[in-house]
Amino acid sequence: MSRASAPDLKLVTSAVTLTDDLAFSAAKAVMAAAVAASKLAGRGDEKAADQAAVDALRNALNAMPIQGHIVIGEGERDEAPMLYCGEFVGSGEGPEIDIALDPLEGTTLTAKAMANAIAVMAFAPRGGLLHAPDTYMDKLAIGPGFEDDVIDLDASIADNVHAVAKAKGEKVHDIGVCVLDRPRHAPIIDDLRKIGARIHLISDGDVCGVINTTNPDTGIDIYVGQGGAPEGVLAAAALKCVGGQFQGRLVFRNDDERRRADKVGITDLARRYTLNDLVTTDAIFVATGVTSGSMLQGVRTMAGACHTHTLIMNSATKNVTDLRMRSPCA
Ligand code: FBP
Repeated sequence: MSRASAPDLKLVTSAVTLTDDLAFSAAKAVMAAAVAASKLAGRGDEKAADQAAVDALRNALNAMPIQGHIVIGEGERDEAPMLYCGEFVGSGEGPEIDIALDPLEGTTLTAKAMANAIAVMAFAPRGGLLHAPDTYMDKLAIGPGFEDDVIDLDASIADNVHAVAKAKGEKVHDIGVCVLDRPRHAPIIDDLRKIGARIHLISDGDVCGVINTTNPDTGIDIYVGQGGAPEGVLAAAALKCVGGQFQGRLVFRNDDERRRADKVGITDLARRYTLNDLVTTDAIFVATGVTSGSMLQGVRTMAGACHTHTLIMNSATKNVTDLRMRSPCA
């Protein structure tokens, strides 16, 4: 489909440059969110941990010299008082940036002090990120190094595993597939068991699940299943920086969810989105570990200092930085 006939995409006119300085400032903001959330890790209170991350991220964003517009945030304006979709953040001067964020991806993981909770955000020039409604999305992702269209969201998971195995020159039982452990995924899990693929079940956190396809050390080749659409855009921004393929389709369970799509201007409810439909420009992706996991170490406090581990990626400069920082604990 040509850009002009794609109704869900906005024309990108901005000439904003995504510098590494901007990426570093964004990283400092998610670090603040991760540190704040980490203080609530293991305390059984998901809401308090999320609120701490939201407050810290919002304060940090408002101190940045940007004209930030949240396109993926904590929810719609009437249900999220802070960092809601449509909220403007930043000092009001500087580049016009669209922001997708999840101050705490893995609220349950944090409350239970389980692995893989992160604070995560993506920046793009205005118009560069799909305004995804707060619905589910069917997702299928692989890491870099494959020919285009090796995977197909409309094919069975068995066919996709066979295609990836063939492309890698490996056997099906050597292919690792990451799936959120949910009853709705029972048919996918059954199919994977039948063909003998290795299943990596995760209890939460599919942004990490998708990004893990880009790291051979994780043993994860494919991410498949239904998770949050906002998390889909965040994960796509990460793949935009390091390579990989992503396909997604919004899932609507009721009229309220269809209304959410209508509100953000999505008219083709059955559309299959590729990575470049979800993130149409260059993007910055930043994430800081809240609890330790496969991708990032969590926040640790030692001798009065806070140790953070942050991933900073910028598709505009092609830079990927693995940043470990020590700062005085607030
Ligand atoms: P929260 O941070 O809001 O707890 O979301 C975590 C998460 O696991 C996402 O990574 C995933 O996309 C979504 O929830 C899956 O939703 P559900 O728990 O409803 O299956």
